[in-house]
Amino acid sequence: MTKISTVLVMGASRGLGLALAEEWLKRGWHVIATARSGSAGLDGLAARFPASLDIETVDIDQSAGVHALRQRLAGRAIDVLFINAGIARAIAESPATASEQDFLAMMLTNALAPVRAAELMGDLVPKGGTVAIMTSELASITHATGGWQLYSASKAALNMLMKGYAAKHAGDGHALLLVAPGWVRTEMGGEDALLSIEESIPHVVDMVEANRGKPGLRFVDRFNRSLPW
Ligand SMILES: NC(=O)c1ccc[n+]([C@@H]2O[C@H](COP(=O)([O-])OP(=O)(O)OC[C@H]3O[C@@H](n4cnc5c(N)ncnc54)[C@H](OP(=O)(O)O)[C@@H]3O)[C@@H](O)[C@H]2O)c1
Repeated sequence: MTKISTVLVMGASRGLGLALAEEWLKRGWHVIATARSGSAGLDGLAARFPASLDIETVDIDQSAGVHALRQRLAGRAIDVLFINAGIARAIAESPATASEQDFLAMMLTNALAPVRAAELMGDLVPKGGTVAIMTSELASITHATGGWQLYSASKAALNMLMKGYAAKHAGDGHALLLVAPGWVRTEMGGEDALLSIEESIPHVVDMVEANRGKPGLRFVDRFNRSLPW
């Protein structure tokens, strides 16, 4: 009998996270999807895939809630942990004009919280498994143009924190992926974005599966191409 693989998608209420959950369900995986409150999208998936989807509630900004989720999942093996949650605020602002609150919110949700979630949940991932976090092409310091400046800084901080995580967890044997999905039409990406969700997420899932069993940290796009830090 073939073992059914399990993915935990954190931040799956809508947009790319919901699409990741759907894509892995369609591929026959068991999916644990988290949202910080009720999600009509996840309820719809639960109706289509009642035996394969577990929905959990957690706000990744709240470390106590992530700890509690870790306790609830004790004993489960998570083949792929995919932390997708993210926010974009003050996208047209500069350090001189942005509200400090908006910047701090992005640093918490986009940088600190995902890596903290990886630290708290990572031991559920067996050797050979994968820890992936949704970053962005905009995280690249090499390619920075000043657009979405504060958001980009938060994703660059995420990448830096993940570099540290990779060094400290080198013995875990996990593929560690910082994933750039492309510019996609979601609430965050907006209607002018280049890609539909269908043009991004199936490739992202292919890329994650292609990296299975390949330990070490990579900053990659949906086609598994390395991006400059
Ligand atoms: N769309 C793009 O073009 C693009 C490009 C590069 C990178 N990304 C990244 O891809 C990820 C998904 O983006 P998206 O386009 O799907 O954005 P989105 O449509 O705005 O969805 C964001 C998702 O993150 C969740 N989330 C936000 N803060 C959270 C928290 N504290 N705890 C748990 N969940 C939280 C949201 O949940 P709620 O429903 O509760 O708000 C929602 O499910 C983000 O990390 C984003 O930075 C997107």
